[in-house]
Amino acid sequence: TRDKMPPLKGDILVHAAEDKEGQPITVAELGEKLVRAWPQGKDAQGQPLIRKGDPNNVLALYKFPKGQIVAPTNMEATIDGEIVAYSDICTHAGCSVSDNDQQVGEMKCPCHSGQYDPKRACMVTGGPPPRRLAQLPIRLEGSTLVVADFFLENPYPFNESEWEARKK
Ligand code: FES
Repeated sequence: TRDKMPPLKGDILVHAAEDKEGQPITVAELGEKLVRAWPQGKDAQGQPLIRKGDPNNVLALYKFPKGQIVAPTNMEATIDGEIVAYSDICTHAGCSVSDNDQQVGEMKCPCHSGQYDPKRACMVTGGPPPRRLAQLPIRLEGSTLVVADFFLENPYPFNESEWEARKK
């Protein structure tokens, strides 16, 4: 069903935090602290539909001062080299990754302390995750954050064949 589909081109990004769930995320709300998002598409009647039927769809958004986001991040998939979106699902065993409380602007998984660097394509900087978090291409439409394309790589803690099957 549509609420289980992964983030698709044209979806808008809305808050996943309970107190603001479903509210569109604005640029002013973003920074070096993680903002969790859901993709929101449309149902068969054209009404807004948050794609939270699959918990693997949760996303992590950051905004860093210009120049801090660097390769191998795909810069064309960021907004102005400042705003970047990733899958928030740890590639190790699927926990939702959080901010690293010891290191501003870095990420740490609460389950087995996997660490990722969101300024460098969410590469693994510590712990057991086998792969970085997948980057999701985004763009700005007016003041709305919009999904620009499909994930650049496998976002799931699954093997590549499951990922290939899901892409279809
Ligand atoms: Fe994230 Fe194990 S699930 S480190």
